[in-house]
Amino acid sequence: MKSFIDYSLLKHNTFGIDAKCQRYIEYATEDDAVLLACELKKPFMVIGGGSNLLLTKDYEGTVVRSAINGCEQLSDDGNDVLVRVGSGEEWDAMVAHFVENGWYGAENLSLIPGDVGASAVQNIGAYGMEVCQLIERVEAVEIGNGRKVSFSTAECQYGYRQSRFKNEWKGRFLITYVTYRLKHEFSPRIDYGNVQQELKSRGIDKPTASELRQVIVDIRKAKLPDPKEQGNAGSFFMNPVVSRSKFESIQKEYPQMPHYFVDDEHEKIPAGWMIDQCGWKGRTIGHAGVHDKQALVLVNRGSATGQEIVNLCQMIQNDVLERFGIEIHPEVNIV
Ligand code: EPU
Repeated sequence: MKSFIDYSLLKHNTFGIDAKCQRYIEYATEDDAVLLACELKKPFMVIGGGSNLLLTKDYEGTVVRSAINGCEQLSDDGNDVLVRVGSGEEWDAMVAHFVENGWYGAENLSLIPGDVGASAVQNIGAYGMEVCQLIERVEAVEIGNGRKVSFSTAECQYGYRQSRFKNEWKGRFLITYVTYRLKHEFSPRIDYGNVQQELKSRGIDKPTASELRQVIVDIRKAKLPDPKEQGNAGSFFMNPVVSRSKFESIQKEYPQMPHYFVDDEHEKIPAGWMIDQCGWKGRTIGHAGVHDKQALVLVNRGSATGQEIVNLCQMIQNDVLERFGIEIHPEVNIV
């Protein structure tokens, strides 16, 4: 187990905020996770790749991160492959590994930053896919007693960017392994956003999995800033799900508004579109800004404090509420 005192989290948050924690611990095996779970005292915070984290001040407690690596094939029935992955593996490296091995299903989730464990907490999603559609089981260790537990996907209660780990189970478990069910047969999902259009422009009719992965990578790179160049945490806000009557009243005024069907009573509206309509795209307040290619992404223009980004977030929330009567909420964890 690695352990550091008075440790800078600069390398552990993609917003590039230089905040410290009192203690930082990495567990690299399940046995370490058990030991740590027995001795961990509050306050503590579990992080992944720090790609969904906004630090507003030094953290007066222990920051914990998984460094459990490895990817093991558990079974293969000729159709489905079950693959068990250490929670400390980088998600996108795993997507690349799955594609290389002919294990399909994760391509649309290419280039999403962060670790495997965090992706199962956050239920990462993109281009019509959510990771919960691939998850078979999540293994963890219970904080306080070190008990090993294993949850089915249903028990994790996944929803749009939601899981039980983010809600009633918050602070209860250290995730150790995630098992995915992947397919030998490749059935591409290309009906979302501009994926099909991008494939067409490359003269690709029926993409292979690596071609689809490449298209997703390129679309993301064109829209989303590279955290190494400009600190950010991807989408800052969640897309709000609103009642059908609310949606219809806004649509009357904005017939061009993009939207996604949720169920008979609800529709999802892209927060990025609303923020863009409010004139925020590309703006800068102090050292915090709104990305010029995608208004859902807040960026650190260099030496921004976490508080500056929170202030910008609040200004945007107020404007969206005033103009559309909709509250938007951060996807990013603000600490
Ligand atoms: N739009 C604008 N202006 C903007 C941004 C978006 O008009 O500045 C419009 C777009 O033209 C499009 C719609 O809003 O019609 C949706 O935009 P986009 O396809 O870029 O997706 P998003 O809703 O902004 C979500 C996810 C992303 C994911 C993409 C693609 C959330 C919070 N975000 O973004 O996930 O990559 O869809 O599937 O659901 C992330 O979570 O960090 C993330 C990047």
